Amino acid sequence: MDLLIHHIENLVTVRAQGSLVKRGKEMTDIGLIRDGAVGIDGGRFVYVGSSGDIAVSRADHVIDGKGKTATPGFVDSHTHLVFAGTREHEFSLRNAGASYAEIHRSGGGINNTVRATRNASKDELIRSSLRRLDTCLGFGVTTVEIKSGYGLTFEHEVKMLEVIHDLKQRHVLDIVPTCLGAHTVPFDYKNRRSEYVAMLREQLIPFVAKHGLAEFIDVFCEEGAFNIEESRSILQCAVDNGLDVKVHADQLTPLGGAQLAAAFNAASADHLDHLTDEAIVAMKHSGTIAVVLPGVSLFLGIPMADARRLIEQGLPVAVATDANPGSCMSENIQLMMTVAGTMMHLTVEEVFTAVTLNAAAALRRSNMLGSIEVGKQADLLLFDLPSYEMIPYHMGVNHLSCVIKRGRKVLDTMRETIDG
Ligand code: NIG
Ligand code: FE
Repeated sequence: MDLLIHHIENLVTVRAQGSLVKRGKEMTDIGLIRDGAVGIDGGRFVYVGSSGDIAVSRADHVIDGKGKTATPGFVDSHTHLVFAGTREHEFSLRNAGASYAEIHRSGGGINNTVRATRNASKDELIRSSLRRLDTCLGFGVTTVEIKSGYGLTFEHEVKMLEVIHDLKQRHVLDIVPTCLGAHTVPFDYKNRRSEYVAMLREQLIPFVAKHGLAEFIDVFCEEGAFNIEESRSILQCAVDNGLDVKVHADQLTPLGGAQLAAAFNAASADHLDHLTDEAIVAMKHSGTIAVVLPGVSLFLGIPMADARRLIEQGLPVAVATDANPGSCMSENIQLMMTVAGTMMHLTVEEVFTAVTLNAAAALRRSNMLGSIEVGKQADLLLFDLPSYEMIPYHMGVNHLSCVIKRGRKVLDTMRETIDG
């Protein structure tokens, strides 16, 4: 085999044994192995077990995992990482009392980033996004979803999706593109809502499907963005064009986005800050993953989604950053893990499942990603900590020391021990 990592103090496998997701109580089972070992060959895991059962001589390269914790690479299943311009002024306005919705209604918010992103060249967008992807990787993200949604004309949405496609070729991370043409009705379509929805349905979505520009179509189903009927027609169009769907659901108001997501068997319903009983029932009877975004509530200073209740009700929950310039300016998935613990009341084990296997499931990738199991893609993190609980507990500090992506070391800050 190419690589053996052995004597790993805490090996968090999140093993699922063929299952594609962990629901409710199952999220507690992170498949912990003490004094664990992982063998990698040809970019896949070929051995996962205890150190005693595997001979070092079988490996070309060996890493000593003494005093370290290994986990699956983190999957950030919800980001808006491609954008131009920043919105620190809105951050300050909100801290002084303005709400996200008020700023959006007055023509700022998403539309501010739309103006800046339309004015940016592809090269500028690629350069700034590559830096952000490096930041993601530095926190242990090995797969990231990126949404368009700051172009909001046919041409500019295609431009964003082409940028995302370019990033895929250039960056070591696995990147999953989502078309969020239905982010909001842009300022220049202000009195032409139906024309905008028609453009999405008749031009953009068929074009995206035809050219393979995105795997998912997402809709911001919200007051001030797209109502239930508009959202339904956009999602239907996506499905008719053979695309999978996601929904920004029940973020600022309980509009019913989660039920809509469930009705379409969406890969995920994201946000869910205004969770209703109906939403829970609907999602329970679907394959839709509930994605919660603690960084948004932290950044906007508003209450957190009731992720505890989702888990108690037996639903599969994932945690993501929602990295974007408006509602969560952070690529730090480890920070989200801490906040999901303290403010959403998830146990450390639930949090690990939420950023690995379940997050991969929210991208329909959990057959290959999200756990350390024989046959899966070898994406693995090593932390300079002897226990996995230390990762969210020692908050705001990055303890990541090594990232293995598809079996190759792509980041290494391991401190060499100087003996004697
Ligand atoms: O997921 N909810 C809508 N969209 C983003 C925010 C985008 C922005 O403010 O630029 C979100 O929170
Ligand atoms: Fe979002």
